[in-house]
This record gives sequence, structure tokens and C-alpha cells, in this order.
Amino acid sequence: MEVVIGDGSHLATVGADAVEQALAARPDAVIGLATGGSPVPVYDELDRRVRTGRLSLREARGFCLDEYVGLPAGHPQRYRAVVERDFVAKVDIDPGNVHAPDGLADDLPAACAAYEQQIRDAGGVDVQILGIGADGHIGFNEPGSSLGSRTRIKTLTRRTREDNARFFDGDVDQVPVHCLTQGIGTILDARHLVLLATGAEKAQAVQWMLEGPVTAMCPASALQLHPHVTVVIDEAAAAGLRLAGYYRDTLAHKPEWQGW
Ligand code: PGA
Repeated sequence: MEVVIGDGSHLATVGADAVEQALAARPDAVIGLATGGSPVPVYDELDRRVRTGRLSLREARGFCLDEYVGLPAGHPQRYRAVVERDFVAKVDIDPGNVHAPDGLADDLPAACAAYEQQIRDAGGVDVQILGIGADGHIGFNEPGSSLGSRTRIKTLTRRTREDNARFFDGDVDQVPVHCLTQGIGTILDARHLVLLATGAEKAQAVQWMLEGPVTAMCPASALQLHPHVTVVIDEAAAAGLRLAGYYRDTLAHKPEWQGW
């Protein structure tokens, strides 16, 4: 795993570089899209690069990580709507090429299986953008999630619902109890994982993820099993890392020829 301890500019550029790399290899690259605050600088940087003509996502495809169950069509906090605001509206991707699990399906298990198939049919995810929850979740895979899990229904923890209440007028009761999320096994199938985290409230989860045991108690620790992971964090999120000096040294000596 490559760990970049940086500032705001790293948080924006490393993720955008990874997407640009994938698009250079294949203009119809498949991008895995996370919601939440962490990926927004990456999406804004992609917006800048599209506007300056440096890259185009015209042929790219996108798959969202997760979705709430039961939020009505048109609800502004449906993750499909959030991704449209935070990402699709900013870049030149075809909205018809961006997919999300169907949290309104009558048959949720069938919708999850269909989503897995859609990802497979697209050839798999080239670059998956990820955030991390304060409890170590990725996507909506809460602690205790099977490390081999696929897209399925999950019950959100009270902690996650409280963290997300800020998007629901501060009212935790408005936050859905259930979600659909790509599984940890689904996420690990992506060819390159780029995880972003900022702030002291993420420091413990980041330490568990990078330097703790691989355990379902910290779903993000499964990234240790993946051969191509880039973790981009700020100083506050890096505060608990034992090997911070080594990560900095590695970055300072990163070979020029080596991409992300
Ligand atoms: P955040 O959420 O990027 O808004 O901090 C991350 C997560 O909960 O997965």
C-alpha cells in the first residue's frame, strides 16, 4: 500500500491523477464513485481538468459504492442524486453511464445481484475512489461485514446514522436504517483502490486500516489484501500512524517513472 500524507492539494490531485491514468489507458475506464465529503476534492479537480481540456470522461463509466434503501426518487440525499451533484454535473461523463444500486427495488436481493452483474459486464472497476468511516467502514460495510461479501443489504450502525444526520437536518431518525452496498469482496475486485481521509476523527480508523490486523472489525483493513492501494490522508488523519516517517520517506523518494 502506498500512503501519501499530504495537504489539500495532494487530496485533490492524487485521486484525479489515478483517474486520469486509467482514462489514458482506456477512455471508457470504469470509475468507482464514493459519496461523502472525502472524495469531493477529487471530483472538483477532475472538473478543473475537464474544463481545461486536459482530460475527458465522455466515454467513462461510473458505479456508485452504495445507496440508501427506501429514500424516494427525487430525495436530495439519495446517493444517486449526491453523485449527480458532486460528480456527474461537474464533468463531461454521460449520466446514462453512471449506475447505482437500486434502493427502491421491490426485490432488493435481486437488485444487488443485478448490480454485481452490471459491474462484471462493464469489465470490472478500474479505479475505485473510497472514503472511510470513523468506525473503519468502507462503502457501507460496517464492522462485522464479511471480508468476502458482495453487494447486499446492510443495517447501518447508530454511529453511521448519527454521522450522516448532518445531511438530514441533523435528525438521525430521518437517516434510513438500511442500505445497499458493494461488498468488501466487490471492492477488492477493483484494479486500483484510492482511499481518502482527513481530520482527527478518522485517525483511529486509518491506523486500524493500515497498521492493525486484517479483521472484519475494521472493514477497511481488508485493503491490506489488495495489491494496488493508494491511501491519501492529511496530517490529522495520520496522527496515529507508527510508520508515518517511513511513508513520508517513501513518498520523498518515489521514482519519477512510477505512477500511482
Ligand atoms: P466522509 O464519509 O467522506 O463524509 O467522511 C466517509 C464514509 O463514511 O465512508
